Amino acid sequence: MKIIIDKYAGFCFGVKRAVDKAFEEADKKKDRRIFTFGPLIHNDQVTGKLEELGIKSADSIDEINCEGAELIIRSHGIGEEEYRQIEEKGFGYIDCTCPYVSAIHKKVQEYYKKGYKIFIAGDKAHPEVIGINGWCDNSAHVIEDEKTVDKLPIYDKICLVAQTTITKKIWDSVVDAINKKYKNAIIFNTICSATEKRQESAEQLSKKVNCMIVIGSRKSSNTNKLYQICLENCDNAYHIEKAEDLPAGMLKGFETVGITAGASTPDWLIKEVIEKMQDNGNIMGDPVEIMENQESVVDDGEEMEKQEDTTEDQGNMMEEYEKTMRPVYPGDTVKGTVIMVTDDEVMVNIGYKSDGIIKKEDYTWDTDVSLKDIIKAGDELEVMVVRINDGEGNVVLSKKLLDTEKNFNKIEAAFNEKTPLEGFVKEIVKGGGIVELMGVRAFMPASQFDVRYSEDLSSFVNKKVNVEIIEFDPQKRKVVVSRKSILKKQNEIKEKALWENIEVGQKLTGEIKRLADFGAFADIGGVDGLIHISELSWSRVKHPSEIVKPGDKVEVIVLSVDKEKKKISLGLKQTVPEPWSAAGEKYKPGDVLDVKVLRFSNFGAFVELEPGIDGLIHISQISDKRIAKPSDALKIGEIVKAKIVDIKPEEKKISLSIRELIEAIGEEAKEEAEKPVIEEAKEETEKPVIEEAKEEAAEKPIIEEVKEEAEKPAVEEAKEEAEKSVIEEVKQEAEEAAEKPIAEEAEEAAAENITEETAEETAEE
Ligand code: F3S
Repeated sequence: MKIIIDKYAGFCFGVKRAVDKAFEEADKKKDRRIFTFGPLIHNDQVTGKLEELGIKSADSIDEINCEGAELIIRSHGIGEEEYRQIEEKGFGYIDCTCPYVSAIHKKVQEYYKKGYKIFIAGDKAHPEVIGINGWCDNSAHVIEDEKTVDKLPIYDKICLVAQTTITKKIWDSVVDAINKKYKNAIIFNTICSATEKRQESAEQLSKKVNCMIVIGSRKSSNTNKLYQICLENCDNAYHIEKAEDLPAGMLKGFETVGITAGASTPDWLIKEVIEKMQDNGNIMGDPVEIMENQESVVDDGEEMEKQEDTTEDQGNMMEEYEKTMRPVYPGDTVKGTVIMVTDDEVMVNIGYKSDGIIKKEDYTWDTDVSLKDIIKAGDELEVMVVRINDGEGNVVLSKKLLDTEKNFNKIEAAFNEKTPLEGFVKEIVKGGGIVELMGVRAFMPASQFDVRYSEDLSSFVNKKVNVEIIEFDPQKRKVVVSRKSILKKQNEIKEKALWENIEVGQKLTGEIKRLADFGAFADIGGVDGLIHISELSWSRVKHPSEIVKPGDKVEVIVLSVDKEKKKISLGLKQTVPEPWSAAGEKYKPGDVLDVKVLRFSNFGAFVELEPGIDGLIHISQISDKRIAKPSDALKIGEIVKAKIVDIKPEEKKISLSIRELIEAIGEEAKEEAEKPVIEEAKEETEKPVIEEAKEEAAEKPIIEEVKEEAEKPAVEEAKEEAEKSVIEEVKQEAEEAAEKPIAEEAEEAAAENITEETAEETAEE
């Protein structure tokens, strides 16, 4: 029969170390009271034995009242405060904190001091987690699963560690959630592989033996888990707590028996079980071969020695592992040589078994740059380790994180020396804005953005700003900056220079800062001067807003300076010529212009010809009708045409008249009104003739008409002439006939070819 003892059975390295130490101390110091800080392990046999040796368990330091007591600090470790209390009470202590757990304490303390918020993935009631939390003033967030991450606030910098015994599944889900929620999280995978390895090894062993014995407390979850694993792979798996639980003859007939044990099962308990298996009928005289899985066969006498060696090896292996990993712990600063550069990634040889990779976003703040333009293969780099494995076997590195660390020191120096720094406004948040200073996030309160308080800070986003650090707390990594203080200092310098150099008559450039009813204030370089409302324009101004608004850049003339009272009067209108100076050239009597009605008086209306030049239209000149007051004919603000009737530029007087224009227009209108009547009449008289002629022309053929016209006068005239001459002649002949006989007359008529009828008619006439 072969008995195969699992290589990873029983105590892990850390627990074994603590238990061994406790028994060693108990043996050495029998005269002293020794306490363990909480139960050393979850195994009644072990704790019972320790109690027999005078080592009791105390849940708190206050419980221990005897002088000169000594405490054994178990592998789970304790917090910083507990160490202080132990020392304060004058107790001695034997520190059996597992080195892995001590390493976590160191990391937590270091990053907490650097201002990181500490997150612990684990069970908040577990003594190891309570101990770890004690290295950051109990300020850590304990994350039991990935859902807890959703409820956590946002922090600038976080450092995540794990309880050494949490499952990989929980750890992976928490890391996933953390990476999604937090940028630049420093993550230390501090899960100890001892439990995982024990389970993997038990699984392998249970597959190849006929019977599997699992030793350990039934209260121990890790032992129960081991038993389940073995049962899945071996039909003859048994869970026992101690040697006595092994029934006689139980193993008879099995060729191979495997043994494993939970993390709190001591070696001597495993040894007792093996001894029990070897006697009284279990193997019934079969030859026994004891071996360790994956190891050569050892003889019976060497077994426990081998077991001890195995545990020792386990410890050594872990120590070796720790040594290997030390140079590339997350958070470490390492030097390396660039071996390859792409646009977005840099591969770096850091002397570790895996190469390091730096993503562009971990290299520079300049998102527009190509890495190829700023770094090349062969360059030496100093970087910070972010993660040991990016999932593809590369160590994740960051230059930005290291730069940020270095820059944090520069920021501290800038704070001490009050040196201004250039920052970049990232975003506006409640009460102010986030300013990035060399990669370090700083806060600028709203009141510190400008010399004057500004409600809307959105215009600052994505802009560079010069700031001064007004608050710096390295513990909390708090940096508060002010742009206002820089501006104030700059203004003080400018102000000093301005007061030294300012003179009446100077022309200066200023910016309108604010308006008042009586004028506008302009910043002329660190000092505000007043432009009185009367100095804003040559024309009458009711409110400064008619001429300027805040933010306007203006040229002004210094009108007066009172250095004692720190008052400066400025003029804006003086920067352009006084309008009356050119009025004599520009305006002449008789000119007709569009003018604006400004105001009324009893004797007329004042009108504006142009800004600064007003004229008067006397009431008698407002209308061609009699009016009682100017408002009867005009409205304020109305634009009307008026004629200049007189101008005296030296007296700044211009007289105008609307009436003259109306009258002139009236004459013209009259002429215009009459002219159409004559014309129309003329047109009307002409029209019928033309129209008729046209109609006639349209109705009758021209030839016919011409013919008729040609014929008509000839016949008519001939007829008339004929009649006329006939009458004349008949009259003459009638006078003669009165003197002549009728026969004679008839004969003469016949001779003249006149018809009888005609002759008779003529005779009758
Ligand atoms: Fe044990 Fe230490 Fe790991 S106590 S489980 S070796 S962390």
